[in-house]
Amino acid sequence: MKSVILNGSPRKGGATATVLKAMREELGRGGQVEWFDAYDLDIEPCAGCLGCRPNGDCVQPSDDAQRVRAAISSADALIVGTPAYWGNMSAPLKLIFDRNVTLFESFEKGLPSPKLKGKKAALVVASGAPWPFNHLPDSGGGAARSLRKILRAGGMKIEGGIFVSGIGPGLPLPLGLAAKARRISERLLG
Ligand SMILES: Cc1cc2nc3c(=O)[nH]c(=O)nc-3n(C[C@H](O)[C@H](O)[C@H](O)COP(=O)(O)O)c2cc1C
Repeated sequence: MKSVILNGSPRKGGATATVLKAMREELGRGGQVEWFDAYDLDIEPCAGCLGCRPNGDCVQPSDDAQRVRAAISSADALIVGTPAYWGNMSAPLKLIFDRNVTLFESFEKGLPSPKLKGKKAALVVASGAPWPFNHLPDSGGGAARSLRKILRAGGMKIEGGIFVSGIGPGLPLPLGLAAKARRISERLLG
């Protein structure tokens, strides 16, 4: 069992990273885990050329986008965590997906077709808005919607999500997150 974790938060001790670390610990008991900090990666923005469509390979010079692509390709599970920024995922995290559209779907005969069927996925979204407002489209709900769109485009089975509400620098993490992280990790391993 191999899992890939994408941390989309710049705060390595923040809510997103804390939940992801709990999942890394659990998933590590069942196999290999590879962790990427989106903010530490060297990835050029997508040029929007659609040069990847004919054969699935990005035509831009090779950078960390290809490295993350290779890791996800060979993994059984993908866990993506992000803070809600303007009702979406963080910019460096989105860049990973923008540069890797054809990792998730192919466009033979012009129609999108999922390429990651059989892999499992989970998401973590931390929002400043308090519950239940963190689930609204202009908060964590919007970030989750964008992430689900990408994971489902790939045909991945989403095993669950962890939503942290009312959180930010200097605020205490809600209780029970480690237990939630454990439950979802078990589903990913199962
Ligand atoms: C640029 C920026 C945009 C944000 N936008 C939102 C937002 O749209 N909705 C929200 O609920 N919180 C928003 N927040 C608050 C963060 O989601 C919150 O601080 C979150 O806990 C950060 O996660 P972290 O602990 O992993 O850093 C924003 C914070 C920043 C810095």
